[in-house]
Amino acid sequence: MQKLIIQGGSPLRGEIRISGAKNAALPVLCAALLTSDTLSIKNVPHLQDVTTMLSLLEQMGADILTNNQSEVELTATNLINPVAPYEMVKTMRAAILVLGPLLARTGEANISLPGGCAIGLRPVDQHIKGLQAMGAEITIKHGYIHAVAKQLRGARIMMDIVTVTGTENLMMAATLAEGTTILENAAHEPEIIDLANCLIAMGAKISGAGTDIITIQGVKSLHGTQHTVMPDRIETGTFLVAGVATGGEIHLTETYPHLLDAVLGKLTEAGANIESGDNWIHLKMSARPKSISLRTAPYPAFPTDMQAQFMSLNCIATGTAMITETIFENRLMHVQELKRMNADIEVEGHTAVIRGIPELDAANVMATDLRASASLVIAGLIAQGETVIDRIYHLDRGYECIEEKLSNLGAQILRTN
Ligand code: EPU
Repeated sequence: MQKLIIQGGSPLRGEIRISGAKNAALPVLCAALLTSDTLSIKNVPHLQDVTTMLSLLEQMGADILTNNQSEVELTATNLINPVAPYEMVKTMRAAILVLGPLLARTGEANISLPGGCAIGLRPVDQHIKGLQAMGAEITIKHGYIHAVAKQLRGARIMMDIVTVTGTENLMMAATLAEGTTILENAAHEPEIIDLANCLIAMGAKISGAGTDIITIQGVKSLHGTQHTVMPDRIETGTFLVAGVATGGEIHLTETYPHLLDAVLGKLTEAGANIESGDNWIHLKMSARPKSISLRTAPYPAFPTDMQAQFMSLNCIATGTAMITETIFENRLMHVQELKRMNADIEVEGHTAVIRGIPELDAANVMATDLRASASLVIAGLIAQGETVIDRIYHLDRGYECIEEKLSNLGAQILRTN
């Protein structure tokens, strides 16, 4: 199993380019199921989750062409196998995103239930409830969601909770439904707007993406188009936190600062000097960071996907911080590992209290999920000595060339087998 070895203590300095967003690329890839034409997608990040999604779409019958320039062409003319098998879904929950488009296009889908995962239970009841409201007959048997609908019908769907992939799944299904669908209590995440833009370019009629209420007027068919995936706001935030934690100066290009208001606000509170333009961010940090309390919540509030990275930052900040996770019930697993590095953290329920200490001790630690892995990388960069991070396959699911990018910024980081 591969590991990362990090020699801590070097401030990050230099410039890197931010990759396309994982959580925007995955739904956009699934949108290819909605048309028999070719969907050409640019700025697709090279990530394990993208590879898994492409394999899933390929075994359903999609033709796929990729090149080294992060471009993918998908043509789903003949969907011979509307199935997402357990073996694929178990490694990537986002596979549930094929359910809506597959059902809308072929009238049938057989998708393995994702089940629980490390960060929480993560049920898909809202996806199912929405499709049922659109006329789908859904049965759950042998761990699979079997959905059938000759023709989905538009419906008014009130989602009980704000769900990102739930909103995306239902929005995709509704593009080919008969009549109008209104999604209420929809998620606002920018990745939803990115998907809506792609669907609109394919001929879908969608308004309100990025707000509480999304209206989709069904059309008979969609056509191919070209789409460029938005920049990864979580990768951006992760590098910014690493810059602040190491007391460095970094310049990030091909990213959108306006999607990171909550994160940039917190980093400024920590003492960072931040300048930005339309598609770049420059960050400089010259003192020990101040502690930052936060509470995760749906966009535009502070993202759960940045919580773990801020936990590491708080470990070496001045003062005491409180971090409350409100989205997932089990997303504080990195605390245990950070404590192995001498961090002073106490957890009560979904809240962690972090008392900053001047420096962390390097140690052998284990990644438990994607963003937890990122927090351990940041901790390794600031710790005194050599940190070894095990189970980094979690990291490869969501960060493109992370050690290469960090090395370019002056970090001493190495991958070993
Ligand atoms: N939920 C339900 N029922 C549902 C759907 C969700 O109870 O039918 C609950 C979940 O268990 C969770 C909350 O609602 O407690 C929010 O979950 P959501 O559905 O919004 O999460 P998701 O769509 O599965 C996406 C991202 C996650 C990110 C969350 C929250 C993708 C592929 N994944 O997940 O990204 O944390 O939204 O912003 O878009 C990551 O990149 O590391 C990651 C986990």
